[in-house]
Amino acid sequence: MMNQNNLELSRKIIIALDVKNRDEARKVLESLPEARIFKVGLELYTAEGPAMIELVKSYGKEVFLDLKLHDIPNTVAGAVRSAVRHGISMLTLHTSGGREMMSKAVESARETAEKEGKPVPLLLGVTVLTSLSDSELEEIGYRLDSKNQVLRLARLALDSGLKAIVCSPQEIELLRSELGSEIKLITPGIRPAWAEAQDQKRIMTPAEAISKGADFLVIGRPITRAPVPREAFSRVVEELKASVKRT
Ligand code: C5P
Repeated sequence: MMNQNNLELSRKIIIALDVKNRDEARKVLESLPEARIFKVGLELYTAEGPAMIELVKSYGKEVFLDLKLHDIPNTVAGAVRSAVRHGISMLTLHTSGGREMMSKAVESARETAEKEGKPVPLLLGVTVLTSLSDSELEEIGYRLDSKNQVLRLARLALDSGLKAIVCSPQEIELLRSELGSEIKLITPGIRPAWAEAQDQKRIMTPAEAISKGADFLVIGRPITRAPVPREAFSRVVEELKASVKRT
């Protein structure tokens, strides 16, 4: 049994369920009994649909639905409604969809949750994809560099009613200092010192990211592809515990 402190820390770690199908998803879920939140992304959702939300919930876990919604306000509000009916904890949308799209999404989440007796999910704003270089940003017509564009979109997201932003580890300090302590920051690109970087370039350890102000860490391969995933997970929890003690 985990104690309360470990339980709280383990809810800071979101496991990326980046797998192709239901069987693989089951394997990951069964290999990580202590993990609390699992991220279902585009690949798995497109392959198996909302049944994957039910699958994660059938293990008593929470769902982070990473569909990065981006469409006209009415369509996004409809997708949010459908997602909330499944009973999810977190859902991503692109902040570049604009103010009305985001505020309609917030309204739709609140109303649907109330009507259907479901939890109101945390809507997470995606700002600038970290895969885009400054020259690619220019190519698609953005005039600001990545850092300022991130800040601009994050401010717009807050102003439109969002309470959480997905950001890279390098953006945590900037967003935390510019946007205050209320906003929730969720960051991927996390690599424990003992794990390989793989294709992630600008990485940070779990303890570093939390001490800089992240609220949630999205971690995939360092845990799911570890020889013993459960051990890798508890190793990360222990590292977070040690860093919390130090601060
Ligand atoms: O396996 P790994 O820990 O690299 O997985 C990270 C997860 O976070 C993946 O699901 C990936 O799609 C997601 N992500 C990311 N970088 C971003 C946004 C999302 O790695 N900028």
